Amino acid sequence: MSTPKIAVIFYSTYGTNHQVAEAAAEAAKEAGAEVRLLRVPETAPDDIVAGQDAWKAQVEKASSIPEVTLDDMEWADGYFVSVPTRFGGAASQYRAFVDTLGPLWAKGALAGKTITATTSAQNPNGGVEATLMNIYTSAMHWGAILVAPGYADGVKFEDGGNPYGYSTTAGAFDETGRKSVAFQARRLVDITGRIAG
Ligand SMILES: Cc1cc2nc3c(=O)[nH]c(=O)nc-3n(C[C@H](O)[C@H](O)[C@H](O)COP(=O)(O)O)c2cc1C
Repeated sequence: MSTPKIAVIFYSTYGTNHQVAEAAAEAAKEAGAEVRLLRVPETAPDDIVAGQDAWKAQVEKASSIPEVTLDDMEWADGYFVSVPTRFGGAASQYRAFVDTLGPLWAKGALAGKTITATTSAQNPNGGVEATLMNIYTSAMHWGAILVAPGYADGVKFEDGGNPYGYSTTAGAFDETGRKSVAFQARRLVDITGRIAG
């Protein structure tokens, strides 16, 4: 079995999904994957970002992390995606990136990749499951293979129990969340290794 190549792709306005992505990248590396931690480009105008101290701070914090490219999408065998919930769907910054993937889709380059996803929202029932389904729906168009966590580990009975992917309320990523994300990342590496190997 070859070393699975995992792209951990995140978008984060206030830091929660950045924390989740860092934890996922660490766990995927520990599980033996070659990992790229990548951020989705910001699409909001500079003056809007600058108008919120917390948003501006997050942009600065993530500035040293490379932006995800189409080459990264081709390089990876599997994707770990973490993006916030926006009005019951994935943040538009992620959607905008997905909308650039047409050329890869057209040549079948996304078919057979694995994907798992996590999200956050202000409210526990503020749309997290819909967001994960939104991410997975597009991935199904690519021909990607969904690696949802289900309840395949005991931590899923402690973390709020979202079987589509770990979800948290904003700013509340804690130790249980860390264990859940680590499990989800390990599972992605394991299944990706079996498929890509
Ligand atoms: C435009 C907008 C729409 C949002 N929509 C929702 C929503 O539908 N449900 C919810 O619970 N939280 C909603 N939120 C809160 C975000 O989900 C929250 O800020 C995000 O999960 C924090 O993640 P981050 O720290 O990685 O940016 C919304 C926030 C914004 C700015």
